[in-house]
Amino acid sequence: MIPRPELLNDLSGSYELSTGAVVSGPAELVDAVRLALAPLDLRPGDSGDIDIRQDPGLGPEAYRLTVGSRGIEITAGGRAGAFYAAQSLHQLLPDASYRFSTRASWLVPGVRIEDAPRFSWRGLHLDVARHFSTKREVLRLIDLMAMHKMNRLHLHLVDDQGWRVESKAYPLLHEVSSHRPRTATNYYKEPESYDDIPHGGYYTLDDLAEIGAYARARCVTVVPEIDVPGHASAILAAYPAFGATGERYDVLDRWGISPAILSPLPPTIEFLTTIFDELIGALGETPFVHIGGDEVVLDHWNEAAEIIAFRDSLGLSSASELQAWFLRRLADALAERGARAVVWDEAFVAGGLREDTVVMPWRGMGVGRRAAAAGHDVVATPVFPLYFDYAEASSADEPMAIGDATSVSDVAAFSPAPAEWSEAERARVAGVQAQLWTERVSDPRTVDYRLWPRSCAVAELGWAGAAGDDFAARLDRHLGRLDAIGVEYRPAAGPHPWQRRRPHRPSVVPIAGMMEKLEAMTHDAESTRPSV
Ligand code: ACM
Repeated sequence: MIPRPELLNDLSGSYELSTGAVVSGPAELVDAVRLALAPLDLRPGDSGDIDIRQDPGLGPEAYRLTVGSRGIEITAGGRAGAFYAAQSLHQLLPDASYRFSTRASWLVPGVRIEDAPRFSWRGLHLDVARHFSTKREVLRLIDLMAMHKMNRLHLHLVDDQGWRVESKAYPLLHEVSSHRPRTATNYYKEPESYDDIPHGGYYTLDDLAEIGAYARARCVTVVPEIDVPGHASAILAAYPAFGATGERYDVLDRWGISPAILSPLPPTIEFLTTIFDELIGALGETPFVHIGGDEVVLDHWNEAAEIIAFRDSLGLSSASELQAWFLRRLADALAERGARAVVWDEAFVAGGLREDTVVMPWRGMGVGRRAAAAGHDVVATPVFPLYFDYAEASSADEPMAIGDATSVSDVAAFSPAPAEWSEAERARVAGVQAQLWTERVSDPRTVDYRLWPRSCAVAELGWAGAAGDDFAARLDRHLGRLDAIGVEYRPAAGPHPWQRRRPHRPSVVPIAGMMEKLEAMTHDAESTRPSV
């Protein structure tokens, strides 16, 4: 079973479960179990094959599951617990139960499970800005997350290369900023080349509402990211007046860090809070909104007279302090809307965050520890081993990746709350999240390849706290389930011939050297990423 339950004991006996079996219990919990086991087409009833009880003494995500010869019992703290009990029950069934079937019957082995998650944040990040993922692909990813008891989908909705949401208030965002005429194809440090193929797409507000509701039903919270004030080329292609210079940019067609930066002045803040209202209005209850804060090139804030005058009027002495003020102002606006801000670690280094702001230390766990010590909730997101745009092996057999290498066992060996941290620091770790940046991930089949099975290891870390000794053996068994669903994961022995795509260039950007460079930067509020 993946992720590993806290306690699992085999019992004697077994129970035959058929499609159309009956589930009884509190309506909300029955609905959650029916949804989690949709292929089984379960029916609600008064007393059934599966009986559910609610025990508020258990945490909201905790559950107990007993399979005996007389039936299946679920005790859950809340709706999420019942949903996860059903996910565990599903993994007790054969792989074929993950396929659509009109009539089937399976023998469920006798078992007693007592289970609850170690971390509240078990996340996947998907960059839909560099390459767009359609609504259907996002809904499918939510299903895969739910199967693995993952509960935070972080959608990176804007970057230099595209804006991905409809806006009624600022329609040029979806009309102009959502597409580019071509995309860079060259390898790192080679002369620029382009594909001359238009790329784009965006979610309508109705799409976003559907994604939010679909996710919520599956115990997944969507965390939208509007990455500001940097990474702003796409926004400034449509609305240059919100930029620091007033200059119009093109939606960027190549990778790396751009100097395009929003203005910190009140009209830009009003623009962004209007966008927050639209996003939250569409998604529904949105406890977290990510506001970025990474890789900001502050040069234009140091040059524009109006911005310097604004900074002085606030009594601030540097662009970095102004950035801290700007992000705090946005976090306050989110708090008024019932949402907590989430930021990349540069924003913590710049200082001045609200205490309730969640920090994602992508440049290493050292800065994560400092954020935890300062009292912030932290979600472990370091490049190594949680940036899945890195190849799984340092080999030209792999598809083109940003660097190498991060294997599934590297992920499994990671500790989101390291033992050497103090108790207080460890208590600040809300969880763990993998990042899929998509500069070099241009289609859904490659998304599958990069995410799976490494995300199985992330699920195990998030739920169980650490990968069990038998993780590799359980993963091997688990791949049959992914096969049945049709997930084009990376096989343990390496890619299928058709998964190689453009060959990777091994060792151009080795991960070890990259981590050292990034860690060194976490001490300087104005330093940006080494460009790859
Ligand atoms: C990041 O990789 N710039 C968060």
